[in-house]
Amino acid sequence: MTDYSTFFSRDAANFRPSAIRAFAKLINDPNIISFAGGVPSPETFPAEAMSEIAARVIRDRREVSLQYGPTRGLPRLCEGIARICEERRIACTTAGVMVTTGSQQALDLIAHTLLDPGDVVLVELPTYIGGSASFFARSAVLAGVAQDDEGIVPESLDEVASRTKPKLLYTIPNFQNPSGRLMTQARRDAVLKLASKHGFLIIEDDPYGELLYVEGADTTPMKSRDEEGRVIYLGSFSKVLAPGLRCGWILAPGALSTQLEIAKQAADLCSGMLDQSIVDEFCATGALAPQIEKVRAFYRGKRATLIDALSRHFSGRAEWTSAAGGLFTFVTMHDDIDTASRVADAVARGVAFIPGGPFFVDGSGRNTMRLTFAKETDERIQEGIKRLAEVFD
Ligand SMILES: Cc1ncc(COP(=O)(O)O)c(C=O)c1O
Repeated sequence: MTDYSTFFSRDAANFRPSAIRAFAKLINDPNIISFAGGVPSPETFPAEAMSEIAARVIRDRREVSLQYGPTRGLPRLCEGIARICEERRIACTTAGVMVTTGSQQALDLIAHTLLDPGDVVLVELPTYIGGSASFFARSAVLAGVAQDDEGIVPESLDEVASRTKPKLLYTIPNFQNPSGRLMTQARRDAVLKLASKHGFLIIEDDPYGELLYVEGADTTPMKSRDEEGRVIYLGSFSKVLAPGLRCGWILAPGALSTQLEIAKQAADLCSGMLDQSIVDEFCATGALAPQIEKVRAFYRGKRATLIDALSRHFSGRAEWTSAAGGLFTFVTMHDDIDTASRVADAVARGVAFIPGGPFFVDGSGRNTMRLTFAKETDERIQEGIKRLAEVFD
């Protein structure tokens, strides 16, 4: 038999399979109360409106919706995205927007365009595994930066940047996956200053900013104060509409934006035109704002139920993030327990969670776990946390 590994590129030899996708099968077993998912609830998908729009754009606009399109994206959708960015207080033009096949593709294109083997990328401890995977796939070296409840710790960023001379910092300031944390505006300013001091670029990944459940949370992106053009801003429709539509975007400064467009030409010519046509039409009819309200209302109560159940069953034994938005809370056990070693026990008791270790690039975080409130009903969330507490007794 042919040994294909001898044909793999050096980059391919560095590919890392997702350590959490392995848990995906636990999500769909109805006998298991699952906090393990990382996906939005299908109940939030505006399926009726979308099926009507899909039929219409296929029937009436086949020359657009079923045809190849511009690499940068459907022009009216790019305009709509520029308006969305402006509402988030980012000064931007339609020409600066490029639609991507989900923000995951944005991460891959940026990694391909900016990274040589051995280049250093700073990531938060913990960070989104799909982001790390894109950087590892270009043979980058990942260095972790400490976070606390206000976001990235500036002293840690300064120290690690001095030591490692990074090209990029990857950050998710709004309701981070996996931690659910919201970075304060003061910390965002400190991060921008340090980028200028050390000369690195910032990827600001913002798929969760619209999913906020409390008053007074300030989600204003760093990009809104990016005076030196150091921030590459990523957005996505996955969490507010539907991830199956694979529709995200990059907002990048001038020449970098052109280079990313050329990278995208080689990657897929253009993102799916049917997906873009549906999202474009949905936004153009003014349906996005009420949809976002519906999604917030759907998750708000579940989030409160989960936090309340944690207070009842884990007080004194663990800390957890408040998850003022997004889809996750992150639990840190006080004891030095490796949560991964309890997964089998949890499943035997009919409850599933994601151990936090894989989200830490420095091998720490074994006493943490990620819980989503997206999937289960209030009753099952309460029962599930009770069972989880028994697992850690
Ligand atoms: C932080 C973060 N970035 C990017 C993505 C990818 O999203 P999509 O490609 O669906 O836009 C996800 C998905 O869960 C995520 O959590």
